[in-house]
Amino acid sequence: MYDPVLQNARKPKGYDGEKTLERMNEHHAPLVKWGLSYLNILQNAKILDIGCGGGATIGELLNRYENSIVDGVDFSEKSVEMSKNFNAKFLGTRCEINQGDAANLPYENESYDAVTAVETVYFWQPVEKAFSEVFRVLKRDGVFMILNEISDPQSQWKDKIKGMNIYTPQQLCDILKSIGFVNVEFYQGERENICVIAKK
Ligand SMILES: C[S@@+](CC[C@H](N)C(=O)[O-])C[C@H]1O[C@@H](n2cnc3c(N)ncnc32)[C@H](O)[C@@H]1O
Repeated sequence: MYDPVLQNARKPKGYDGEKTLERMNEHHAPLVKWGLSYLNILQNAKILDIGCGGGATIGELLNRYENSIVDGVDFSEKSVEMSKNFNAKFLGTRCEINQGDAANLPYENESYDAVTAVETVYFWQPVEKAFSEVFRVLKRDGVFMILNEISDPQSQWKDKIKGMNIYTPQQLCDILKSIGFVNVEFYQGERENICVIAKK
């Protein structure tokens, strides 16, 4: 029997979803700071954060890249609401947030210079289709960055959250290459933290 509160990690909803998103906004900040140290984005970029959750990564990117546009997409209504609240100051000018599935992104081909995905690809189904969607919406030479805190396939988290798939960095690199991404690299951080970066 799955713990219902933990299922909010996959698709937050209601009060427990809101509290989970608030916690994740704080808890994932060090992972995001570490990962962004590997990402070279020019100013005036268009960036998309998929599975944007409570919106803190969008906020961090908006602060770092002052002349850039940072959009977000998430399939949870609660996450979209929280991300909009978190980034209210920039909504409609430098930021738009939409509800949508990673496997069927509501964006035109070649719209973004960079796509980020923090603690979310575990839940993308099918992951190959979602990565193809990232490839489609990226501009030529655009970059895709995946950040995960869990990368040991033996981790018990997959038994706690329904529909969770845990990938080693090598597995993620292999899927990305099979789709056509190039310059695919990964970095191992503390504990199981991984950062995977690929170029279109
Ligand atoms: C563990 S939370 C991480 C949220 C945020 N990125 C962070 O680091 O705090 C996972 C998020 O990914 C979203 N998500 C999961 N599967 C998705 C999919 N297929 N398409 C879009 N969003 C998805 C969930 O709704 C949730 O908001």
